[in-house]
Amino acid sequence: MVPTRPQERATPFDRMLTPLHRWIWSDAERRVLKLLRFGETETDGGRDILRAAEVTSDPLLRRLYLEHAIDEFRHGVMFRRRATTLLGALPSRSTSGFHGEWLAPGGHGLDDLQVDNESDETMLAFLHLSEKAAASRFTVYRDVMHHDPPTRAVFEEILHDETFHMNYTLTQLARVAPENHRRHLWRARLSRLWKAYLRLATALAGMLGSILLTIQYFVLLPPFAWLAKRAERREVSGWSLVSPERSSLLDREY
Ligand SMILES: [Fe+2]
Ligand SMILES: [Fe+2]
Repeated sequence: MVPTRPQERATPFDRMLTPLHRWIWSDAERRVLKLLRFGETETDGGRDILRAAEVTSDPLLRRLYLEHAIDEFRHGVMFRRRATTLLGALPSRSTSGFHGEWLAPGGHGLDDLQVDNESDETMLAFLHLSEKAAASRFTVYRDVMHHDPPTRAVFEEILHDETFHMNYTLTQLARVAPENHRRHLWRARLSRLWKAYLRLATALAGMLGSILLTIQYFVLLPPFAWLAKRAERREVSGWSLVSPERSSLLDREY
């Protein structure tokens, strides 16, 4: 096992889910799909950080954000390359099935961020927490990847960068907001918690909606189908004569 650097520690929650992550990553098809998704998330995160470099007025932050964005783009390429190699070795089969997306998320959750509306302090607090979460998850993913050393090496290398991102964002937050950087961190934590709750509530609502629609389909529709079939049986087939009273209706437009 690779010795754990001081900052590369998974949270107890991520560590607790290790058996589940081991199972999710054990399937080669799922691994390909997840790596592709991770590649997309890293590249998207890189774009947001590039935007942060454009909007900040702090020269040091601009340089650090640029380096950070380059790292995230590189991570995207690494994940995609590894996924492509794995894909080439896969037998041609359906790629449908359970992917464990919400159980084993990737990236930094930067999709929650409106970069143009953030100050340097809120941006750094958000980035620090996002990188910390990514480092925690990637530590677990690396540790459960014994069966696939090349993918494990990808996580190992990316984890090194994520740890640097996690550390520099905290150092810079303490520099730009020496008095109240802890308050910014707590606000960012609460904001992430709230967004996580909203995501969970949306997923639950979607699941409940599907269950209710399925119940309606099997409980409410059968009686209507039965009534329609009964009416169809009573219907005389072919042309039938219309009584003179009813046929007079055809003389006028309405
Ligand atoms: Fe990354
Ligand atoms: Fe990162």
